[in-house]
Amino acid sequence: MTDAAPATTLARAGSSVGEVALRRRGAHTELVVGGVFVMDTVDVSTEVALATVALGRHDAPRRVLIGGLGLGFTATAVLADQRVEEVLVVEIAEPLIDWAGAGLLPTDLVDPRIHLRAGDVVEVLTATPGEWDLILLDVDNGPGFLVREDNARLYGPAGLSSAVAALAPSGVLAIWSSHPAPELLAALDSIEGGTAQEVLRRVSREGRDLTYGIYLLEAAAQADADLVQHHPRE
Ligand SMILES: C[S@@+](CC[C@H](N)C(=O)[O-])C[C@H]1O[C@@H](n2cnc3c(N)ncnc32)[C@H](O)[C@@H]1O
Repeated sequence: MTDAAPATTLARAGSSVGEVALRRRGAHTELVVGGVFVMDTVDVSTEVALATVALGRHDAPRRVLIGGLGLGFTATAVLADQRVEEVLVVEIAEPLIDWAGAGLLPTDLVDPRIHLRAGDVVEVLTATPGEWDLILLDVDNGPGFLVREDNARLYGPAGLSSAVAALAPSGVLAIWSSHPAPELLAALDSIEGGTAQEVLRRVSREGRDLTYGIYLLEAAAQADADLVQHHPRE
């Protein structure tokens, strides 16, 4: 967050997760959800990288699920890839969806391929097994710095397993973190039927060097997935 300039409120509304506020501070936009500062537009390179790193690991990423609309940077990076045919963005703070429709967000989300849905992405993951070529999750500041306590279930064994189960064969799961998260890498690595990897990105912000992480799991192709299913590792 840039502290020097005073903030002006662009929009404010109640939601099922508390008050949501969109603020302008100098040249930048800030998002606050339920009293927690969630993000700003000072450096969105890692929000974009969440999309581009995952897109780069799939030959035909037709169907993409995004957890957390935020200010829309991950979603616009996905839409920039013409291989993508359908994007479902699930956002728990409902006003953000209205504000996207009203053009209040600092990104352009007008595209027939994108659908914005109010809800909890954890529930969508559970309800859509085998559906997604890419699943991009940016709903917290990382597994060690939750925006909502309830999101802890996403990073536990059951939550991660249902995220991986929601991938189509050869699908890619990518999770954003504002810090290196070795425990998340280990948890992904322990899931059978895929390969886990960490991509670290350095960002300079207000004179500080910060390290962000993108945590990936690439699911096996169909033949391998069958192999895993029928002949589990000893
Ligand atoms: C850091 S922002 C996402 C930023 C986004 N990647 C971008 O490029 O602008 C996190 C968003 O996730 C939302 N969120 C938090 N928990 C969620 C959940 N369980 N399901 C869906 N959205 C959630 C928050 O309301 C917030 O809008």
